[in-house]
Amino acid sequence: MTNIDAEDTLCLRKLASLGGIKGPVRISTQALGEMLGISQQTASRRLLSLERLKMVTRTAEASGQHVLITAEGEEHLRREFAEYCKIFGESSEMYSMKGVVVSGVGEGRYYMSIYSDKISEICGFAPYPGTLNVKLNPQSMQIRNRLESLEWQIIPGFNDEHRQFGAVRCLRCTIGGIACAIVAPLRTHHPSEIVELISGERLREALKVEDGSAVEIIIS
Ligand code: CDP
Repeated sequence: MTNIDAEDTLCLRKLASLGGIKGPVRISTQALGEMLGISQQTASRRLLSLERLKMVTRTAEASGQHVLITAEGEEHLRREFAEYCKIFGESSEMYSMKGVVVSGVGEGRYYMSIYSDKISEICGFAPYPGTLNVKLNPQSMQIRNRLESLEWQIIPGFNDEHRQFGAVRCLRCTIGGIACAIVAPLRTHHPSEIVELISGERLREALKVEDGSAVEIIIS
């Protein structure tokens, strides 16, 4: 994880409160310094440090300097948020993705039978044989991409006498309050819009859903 100090975090938070996650914020180091109660030089150093840590990007326009918080910067602030949620006993539903249930090609059942024991060990539930496929709404793809930077649990690959099975990874989540996990191959270039969920329960039954039903996946 990136090493960012408390002062840089405060500066990042201020930029976020000015709207820096949604779009570039036009701000001078003078104004930023005043807001943070530090000198213009110190504000300038903080911005430089945040830029080196790839938490922000800066562009110089004729109208002044524009600062934008990167996905990594947002991720850092979300972790801070989760810490506070823990302190105050609030739930930190960091990520919520919406989509609809779809059918796959029936491969999930086969793979789950193969990885089942290892998944039980790692996820703490004996998976129902199959995966529930959820096609994410386009707006949720941004969140899906962000999940790539979280810590997934790895199930190492292995061989049986016939073939090799690649490593897969799981990320714990819930759907309709039921514990489940997203499974994905360890190596993926671009996250797919189809999320595959495993659970100890037959989710179609437990959630009373069928193809086309809207569902929400929550990662906390
Ligand atoms: O045919 P498809 O690839 O969609 O499914 P599968 O992975 O072979 O899983 C068999 C069936 O169980 C499918 O209808 C899944 O949607 C469903 N399923 C479920 O309801 N709950 C789970 N935890 C896993 C699968």
